[in-house]
Amino acid sequence: MADTFGVPGVIRDSSIPTPDNLGDEKLLIKVYAWAINPADYMLQNRNLGKYPVILGCDVAGTVECILPNSTAASLFSVGDRVFGFTANNGFQDYVTLDYRLVAKLPDHMAYSEAVVLGLCAATSAMFLFGKDYLHLDYPKSGATRKGKSVLVWGGSSAVGSNAIQLATAAGYDVVTTCSERNFDYVKKLGAIQAFDYRDNDVPGSIAAEIDSGECAGFFMAAGLEEGNLAAYKVATASNQRINFSSSSFVTDLGNVPEGVHLSQATVENIKPFPYCWFETLSATFGGYLPEALATGTYKVAPPPLVVNRQGLEGIQEAVDRMREGTVSAVKLVVERP
Ligand SMILES: NC(=O)c1ccc[n+]([C@@H]2O[C@H](COP(=O)([O-])OP(=O)(O)OC[C@H]3O[C@@H](n4cnc5c(N)ncnc54)[C@H](OP(=O)(O)O)[C@@H]3O)[C@@H](O)[C@H]2O)c1
Repeated sequence: MADTFGVPGVIRDSSIPTPDNLGDEKLLIKVYAWAINPADYMLQNRNLGKYPVILGCDVAGTVECILPNSTAASLFSVGDRVFGFTANNGFQDYVTLDYRLVAKLPDHMAYSEAVVLGLCAATSAMFLFGKDYLHLDYPKSGATRKGKSVLVWGGSSAVGSNAIQLATAAGYDVVTTCSERNFDYVKKLGAIQAFDYRDNDVPGSIAAEIDSGECAGFFMAAGLEEGNLAAYKVATASNQRINFSSSSFVTDLGNVPEGVHLSQATVENIKPFPYCWFETLSATFGGYLPEALATGTYKVAPPPLVVNRQGLEGIQEAVDRMREGTVSAVKLVVERP
């Protein structure tokens, strides 16, 4: 829990929700693993105005309680092993989650594995398939190849690792950027070609690759505004009009070059959490993701790096490690003791 911004989190006792105050759509989860996201340290640094707040998004654990005869109870039972996410509130021993943002784990899968997926798979799905964004065809098992490319900028990031898999499963040929040491990693996830984003000739090289066919869109998955600017250069070097969406909301519209069609919700109509993720749930929790995990088609990526097994006591250490900015093709995870 954060009492203000720019200070380490503190642990406090609070009451655990009962079935009656869970309501129709919530599950109470006893958490066994937490994954760390850049948002955790970014929000810890930022003045959110109202305190105290509880940060944290990705969790995996067992269903502890549900309101009997609720919508959530029609899909989940007490004792189910699940993973899911929440827009904050995650760094607790017991977390309430919207049933739509939860899926059951395959039996063979550890909590520390599945916990890496939730927020980043849902975010990728929103930007790739959402009507306000790239609006690509949805993933499905056995999708036919379309002969169209998608550029995922930052494919070794947690968001990018999921975007590569989802776009590939939808039948697109994914071209991506990452450090050279991660070329094999992104190719194992399905990327057909990888480029080092630090190379000076990247805009021309990627443009030549995507201009050999039709490009269905660019998704900027990592690198914040620097990533947006670099991906714009690729679009400018391409001879196609590029549909562009970004995990980092584009506020400076003046930087968007000609030939780039920015596809993002406007400030006025952007949907708040958690509603922004609901439209594309059939690509994730509501369909493709649990099915593809069960068959082994979808990989747990990035792989978890368990920072410690100290539960809530260990969260701040993991958030501080994320803040260092050295995470590469792994997801930091904390386990319950
Ligand atoms: N809007 C949303 O709902 C939402 C949700 C989740 C995340 N996000 C945002 O999405 C971004 C990625 O989050 P994440 O959790 O995936 O981060 P992450 O896994 O911590 O990202 C680390 C990776 O970013 C890559 N990277 C860093 N700078 C880059 C650049 N300039 N170009 C290309 N790749 C670069 C690194 O690649 P190499 O190691 O290969 O060099 C590294 O693998 C963050 O900005 C985050 O805030 C948005």
